[in-house]
Amino acid sequence: MLEYWKRPIPPQTHRNVFSSYPEDCAQCHKEQYNDWKRSLHSKAVGPGLIGQLRPSEDPYFAISCYLCHAPMEDQSEMKEARGKRQEAEEYIKNPSFDNKLKLSGVSCSVCHLREGKMYGPPARKRVSSKQLAVSSKKQNNHNGFVEKDFFEKAEFCAACHQLNGGYELNGKLLVNTYREWEESFYGKNNIICQNCHMPDRQHLWRGIHDPDMVKKGITIDARREDKKAKLTITNAAVGHLFPTYATPLIVIKGFMLDKKGRIVQSSLKKAYIGRRVSLDLSEEFFDTRVAPQKTFEFDYTFSNSYNNHRLVFEVWIYPDEFYNRFYKALLKNKDDDFKRKEIAKALKITEGSGYRFFREVL
Ligand code: HEC
Ligand code: HEC
Ligand code: HEC
Ligand code: HEC
Ligand code: HEC
Repeated sequence: MLEYWKRPIPPQTHRNVFSSYPEDCAQCHKEQYNDWKRSLHSKAVGPGLIGQLRPSEDPYFAISCYLCHAPMEDQSEMKEARGKRQEAEEYIKNPSFDNKLKLSGVSCSVCHLREGKMYGPPARKRVSSKQLAVSSKKQNNHNGFVEKDFFEKAEFCAACHQLNGGYELNGKLLVNTYREWEESFYGKNNIICQNCHMPDRQHLWRGIHDPDMVKKGITIDARREDKKAKLTITNAAVGHLFPTYATPLIVIKGFMLDKKGRIVQSSLKKAYIGRRVSLDLSEEFFDTRVAPQKTFEFDYTFSNSYNNHRLVFEVWIYPDEFYNRFYKALLKNKDDDFKRKEIAKALKITEGSGYRFFREVL
């Protein structure tokens, strides 16, 4: 599999034989296409990425990002010059650059296509027409496919969801999802990423941006007794830390309502779940992420004067909190080594992705 994930992925020389655009796979694999299109993998080359990159001025930086966001060589404006002076870090314009392919991000071909051959998991024993929308047709336009077990291994995802050094902060890697999984109950019992993120081989990849997905992994218990109340958040079925990345932030709020239903400001208390890091990634402010099967407790005490008030517990999830802070800071910059319009678009997306996950009145 190491060989399979060597990047940049070599040029798709078959392109004169059949297309590698996701829209063209959709012709026969509608289910996978529709699910993928709604997933973040289809948005991996968005304004937040494009706005930060200047591929012709700084190809080294751009290509380091394309490693996970657009890893086919044909997706990159520039490529490393090969030849006699291999040792020098030289980049040339990539003659096979394809902007449409670049914008497709982590698309079908990134995971399934190598040098003109289609790769996939072992064929299903019983294939229903819903599962493989094409099963009734005898034809495919890619000459069969190569079956590989590694499509059903967590390592397949580790290629982009695990760093192996560098980017350490406070002794912990910035992206450590595969290892977190490996050390958990799920890793030990071979319940892999795909079981939760691609159930029945569906190309969903839902994560923290999706409230229903988070509901599958997290249980919340709210109690009030006497002058005390407690909110307990349990990582009941997330296969890694909740959340695994440093980019989301979960905000827990406890507050009182007066008789008219207004918030008593002086009663508001907050707590945070997440790994909050500085914008330059040089400092970790806190790390309160919740490991599998562990809990986070939020204690709320109140004084006699609030006895007859109603207490409210709320949990808010901001999947893009880090990026939101980052884009705001970037836009304050006067210099223009980034694309202002794209970053403004990206900021808007991060402003809209937060949601209230839980509310209970006690
Ligand atoms: C080629 C690199 C690559 C591979 C392989 C890959 N991913 Fe991703 N994944 C990404 C990128 C990049 C994003 C973020 C896209 C964005 O938001 O711009 C992402 C996003 C996600 C998300 C959404 C996270 C959220 O915040 O909601 C999930 C879930 C996910 N991937 C799971 C998986 C699983 C499971 C596998 C293995 C079957 C996998 N990925 C394989 C690159 C990859
Ligand atoms: C090891 C794989 C990997 C590399 C390398 C990588 N990313 Fe990402 N990136 C991800 C994943 C996975 C996510 C989704 C999880 C998250 O939000 O942190 C993501 C999310 C993002 C997002 C927010 C979602 C979006 O599309 O707007 C931006 C912006 C981004 N990355 C920019 C970059 C830049 C710039 C670089 C290069 C300096 C880079 N990434 C390198 C894997 C990677
Ligand atoms: C991030 C990697 C990734 C991307 C992107 C991706 N796939 Fe897959 N695909 C997989 C994995 C992993 C499996 C096997 C899942 C399993 O067996 O649990 C799979 C399975 C399949 C299967 C077999 C389905 C079945 O029910 O037997 C087909 C067909 C397929 N993919 C087509 C596509 C198409 C078409 C696209 C683009 C619209 C696409 N894939 C995008 C990783 C990917
Ligand atoms: C003209 C119809 C057609 C088009 C277009 C097409 N496929 Fe397929 N594909 C098939 C058929 C039929 C199969 C069933 C298996 C076979 O080859 O016998 C298949 C099988 C697959 C498999 C293996 C499924 C498994 O069980 O592991 C993958 C992966 C796949 N296709 C991906 C793609 C991708 C990615 C594209 C676009 C680049 C694409 N296909 C375009 C018809 C098509
Ligand atoms: C037992 C089920 C389960 C397994 C196994 C699992 N996940 Fe998740 N994953 C979830 C749930 C539920 C969420 C939503 C809550 C959250 O964000 O932590 C999630 C969220 C994510 C996210 C969103 C970003 C974030 O900060 O949380 C990514 C990316 C992700 N998973 C990747 C993976 C990868 C890669 C693997 C395998 C190494 C994996 N997951 C294994 C259930 C699982």
